[in-house]
Amino acid sequence: MAKEIKTIGVLTSGGDAPGMNAAIRAIVRKAIGNGVKVKGIKKGYQGLLNEEIIEMEKKDVSDTIQKGGTILGTARCPEFRLGEVQEKAAEICKAHGIDGVVVIGGDGSYRGAQALARHGINTIGIPGTIDLDIACTDYTIGFDTAINTAMQAIDKVRDTSSSHERCSIIEVMGRNAGYIALWCGVANGAEDILLPEKYDFNEQNIINNIIRNRKRGKTHHIIVNAEGIGHSTSMARRIEAATGMETRATILGYMQRGGSPTCKDRFYASIMGAYAADILCEGKSNRVVGYRKGEFVDFDIEEALNMQKDIPEYQYRVSRLLSE
Ligand code: ADP
Ligand code: F6P
Repeated sequence: MAKEIKTIGVLTSGGDAPGMNAAIRAIVRKAIGNGVKVKGIKKGYQGLLNEEIIEMEKKDVSDTIQKGGTILGTARCPEFRLGEVQEKAAEICKAHGIDGVVVIGGDGSYRGAQALARHGINTIGIPGTIDLDIACTDYTIGFDTAINTAMQAIDKVRDTSSSHERCSIIEVMGRNAGYIALWCGVANGAEDILLPEKYDFNEQNIINNIIRNRKRGKTHHIIVNAEGIGHSTSMARRIEAATGMETRATILGYMQRGGSPTCKDRFYASIMGAYAADILCEGKSNRVVGYRKGEFVDFDIEEALNMQKDIPEYQYRVSRLLSE
């Protein structure tokens, strides 16, 4: 028989993402609507270990849906990989009367959720990362805001790049995943799009592309480079030396993680938050919520973590073709 759930906790973990507050708000309001109490756990697993735990009422999430970041705060907590630390965290949950926890974060955070579940605390994960690199879901909270922020910034760099007839390398976030670079590369009409999953580190191809485009009369050249490839500044120096075209690097950095969430991020985060609260209140555990093929769904955490995701081949081929 499913465990009776009287009180749940909610925490955000790993890198923050715009829309996390919409998810927290939905969890609080849906769970309370289901007759379940909610406690907010501050600063991810670190805050749990420090017992930074607060009661949350519906009014506590008023005026938060439009805010970037996470009202609960977030942290990386390397020690949470240790068995004894996980056991201690589960004991803290029990001492605070917390029967289940919704964890908003990425794959690493799901591992922590899995560990809590092993120690008798029901857990549900929600995908929260701007990187879109969670295999079980087509959507992750924050991606839409991040790509729109980056797209607008790249448009601005393009204006000045065109005026000065320069080449611009614009580095977007994505240490391991090229989704932000792919989407912005296409949306900004970049001449070259460098993805960690695909890049062959053959800079001569980029140089040849610039020389060819100049001969065809193009007066600017935009390269969207993913953080996972990095080295944009030294790349700019080498490209300038090889092509004679003035080249500048712009690293967009953390601005991509902040800002007011888009409508899409607020909406998806709200539905996912409510969905997570519902299945947690029903007594489900060790599951993650996702959005696949137009439906909100949930998977076993282990099954979700074993799924693979890669840059869709057709999208990649089109991105290359359109930049010619
Ligand atoms: P994300 O959740 O975005 O993937 P991280 O990989 O940094 O971000 O993970 C966030 C936090 O989740 C870590 O700081 C740690 O507290 C916890 N975590 C990560 N990996 C594990 C693991 N293997 N076991 C338990 N907890 C983990
Ligand atoms: O949130 C995702 C992400 O921005 C990655 O693209 C990047 O690698 C990482 O977070 C950097 O985060 P931090 O510097 O906070 O560890």
